[in-house]
Amino acid sequence: MRILVCGGAGYIGSHACTVLAGRGHDLLVADNFANSSPRVLERLRRIIGAPVFFQQADLRVRADLDALFDGPRFDAVVHFAALKAVGDSCRRPLDYFDNNIAGTIHLLQAMQAAGVKRLVFSSSATVYGDPDSVPVREDAALRTTNPYGRTKLVMEQLIGDLCESDPSFHAANLRYFNPVGAHPSGLIGEDPGGVPDNLMPYVSQVAVGRRERLQVFGGDWPTVDGTGVRDYLHVMDLARAHADAIDYLAREDRSLTVNLGTGRGVSVLELVRAFAKASGREIPYEIVGRRAGDVAQVYADPSLAQRLLGWRAELDVEAMCRDAWRWQSMNPDGYGSAAVDEAAAGEVASQHEWDALAAG
Ligand SMILES: NC(=O)c1ccc[n+]([C@@H]2O[C@H](COP(=O)([O-])OP(=O)(O)OC[C@H]3O[C@@H](n4cnc5c(N)ncnc54)[C@H](O)[C@@H]3O)[C@@H](O)[C@H]2O)c1
Repeated sequence: MRILVCGGAGYIGSHACTVLAGRGHDLLVADNFANSSPRVLERLRRIIGAPVFFQQADLRVRADLDALFDGPRFDAVVHFAALKAVGDSCRRPLDYFDNNIAGTIHLLQAMQAAGVKRLVFSSSATVYGDPDSVPVREDAALRTTNPYGRTKLVMEQLIGDLCESDPSFHAANLRYFNPVGAHPSGLIGEDPGGVPDNLMPYVSQVAVGRRERLQVFGGDWPTVDGTGVRDYLHVMDLARAHADAIDYLAREDRSLTVNLGTGRGVSVLELVRAFAKASGREIPYEIVGRRAGDVAQVYADPSLAQRLLGWRAELDVEAMCRDAWRWQSMNPDGYGSAAVDEAAAGEVASQHEWDALAAG
């Protein structure tokens, strides 16, 4: 299939590209690099073994969307493009509403105009907020607690309304739990700008010496060791789910909403210990007060994804830590670490070449 990957230069999108390309799909990556580096494209070319077709585009800009869709029709769109930091969204909610919600509306309008009827959408476990019980099923109450989560919830609802209005339009809402880890090559991985919002990149930056110590928010949660429990999921398992969702939409001609997690809760201290073992580095940490808005434990019931997509997470916490560490130690400064690129200066194919390939 010909697939448009919006936000494909980002953390999860780039990993999904490796799996989608591996299944033989032709990809056009669109991104505005709001939270990613053009270096990703070169790294992807090395992993995939072929040029990565790329078009710089901001989903909020109509002309950029017109240019994206001005070619042979896409069979599907995978939509990763969003701002995603919870704390940041509390400080500047309007930017999140504009980027995530308005950007998605423009994308849906462009899809409708072009007759593209399949969408895979990056949703999040944050739509559940503080769940009444764990594991969390898809029919749990939706009551997110922050502006970022509200954008995800609104986007799910907008997409749902579009599916209702057009019975031939189908969407896969994928509610990710906590993606971590990296591609086993060490060439692509998570590279947050500034202070990491999430635990794993923080831990790996401590391990590599970029940060002095980890702050653990709360040691008095009602959990196994008092620290917060989450459902960490290897990004390569998550990437595979996107290819499975594309297959589902093509095969079943119907929409779905599924949790993507392992179904297993892991505490902060369990993850820290696993990372220390995988890296051979000490991870100094201190337990500080709870962070506003955090919850004790959230982990998925992923059985619906298994039933509908035939998908289940296969990689364990050891693999997550091993691959995150390989990425971090090969790229101590993330994509700012030029050494890996110097050996292999290659080309990134243009939209023009994509059109030629798609037409032929
Ligand atoms: N990483 C997580 O923990 C997590 C968890 C649940 C859901 N998600 C969702 O998954 C998706 C991907 O997350 P990620 O971790 O890869 O984030 P990311 O920031 O690494 O990737 C998002 C990409 O979208 C691009 N982008 C943002 N706004 C854009 C716009 N207006 N036009 C074009 N490109 C734009 C960014 O430059 C970036 O490359 C997001 O929608 C995020 O909300 C992420």
